[in-house]
Amino acid sequence: MMEFSPSRRGLVFSGTANLELAEDVAELLGTKLGDVEISTFANGEIYTRFNISVRGADCFVIQSHSNPVNHHIMEQFIMIDALRRASARTITVVAPFFGYARQDKKVRAREPITARLLGDLFVTAGADRIVSLDLHTGQIQGFTTIPFDHLTALHLFVDYLSTSMPGPPVIVAPDSGRVKLAERYATHLGAEVAFAYKRRRTDARNKVETLWVVGEIEGRHAVIVDDMVDTGGTLVSAAELLERRGAASVRAISTHGVLSGPAINRIKGSNLEELVITNSLPMTEEARSLDKIKVLSIAPQLAETIEAIFKDRSVSELFRGENI
Ligand code: R5P
Repeated sequence: MMEFSPSRRGLVFSGTANLELAEDVAELLGTKLGDVEISTFANGEIYTRFNISVRGADCFVIQSHSNPVNHHIMEQFIMIDALRRASARTITVVAPFFGYARQDKKVRAREPITARLLGDLFVTAGADRIVSLDLHTGQIQGFTTIPFDHLTALHLFVDYLSTSMPGPPVIVAPDSGRVKLAERYATHLGAEVAFAYKRRRTDARNKVETLWVVGEIEGRHAVIVDDMVDTGGTLVSAAELLERRGAASVRAISTHGVLSGPAINRIKGSNLEELVITNSLPMTEEARSLDKIKVLSIAPQLAETIEAIFKDRSVSELFRGENI
């Protein structure tokens, strides 16, 4: 009987959204990004072509869904389609920031659930697996029938905070969606927890008011924890209230620095001592130049996850089972 001894080939590619992060990941994996041509026609349509054979390879396509979000998502769809048609063995979507994750449920009648739609579209394009980081809500993992590996920056931030906190901390959830996350941080840091109540105005997107906060704030160093900072409304509004409630200092950690619209000016003018984010999304020069913003690299966690998937090893062990 003939024996086959297949040698598996792993290839890492990147879309155009966050090349810097993808290059760091590839380097940590001891490889280089695969050669792919990506261009845009005059009317905005996207063209991609892989310049190396991908037949039989396990392919990882890194793309963060940064602004312009729809363009970057479409680019990733098209790359997946090209890989499928070129006989890749497996295709893994690596989306450190998963676009439309905030649209994960209907809050009002006649709204879409766009995060679910995105999951379906990745499957339709030909993805076998999705990898993402600190999703807006964990249940998005169940929005597709293909495996979904969920990473977390929790330990990265906990390590940072445990060496940089100036005094007794209180971990603050800026809204009801982050309560569990705040509890997890508090457990790791042996800290108190507080919860803020925030109201969004339905007449305008990204307009936020933090109305009250429950917990021991007076004299403590407050750390607001959130999945993303978009316009900075949630953060700045919570930070102001915490100061009024007697916090000794206020800082924030947030996995995804979306930092759109007024975010930079709001953060600059706020009472926040620092905002710690990861490099899941690319940053503008203006954001990079703001001393208050500290960036921790998530590349090692992404590289370890890609390696674990490729070698059929546990991903949850990398995150001590807390990547839920
Ligand atoms: C909302 O539920 C999210 O977790 C973030 O708090 C929110 O998306 C941040 O948006 P912004 O910075 O515009 O307030």
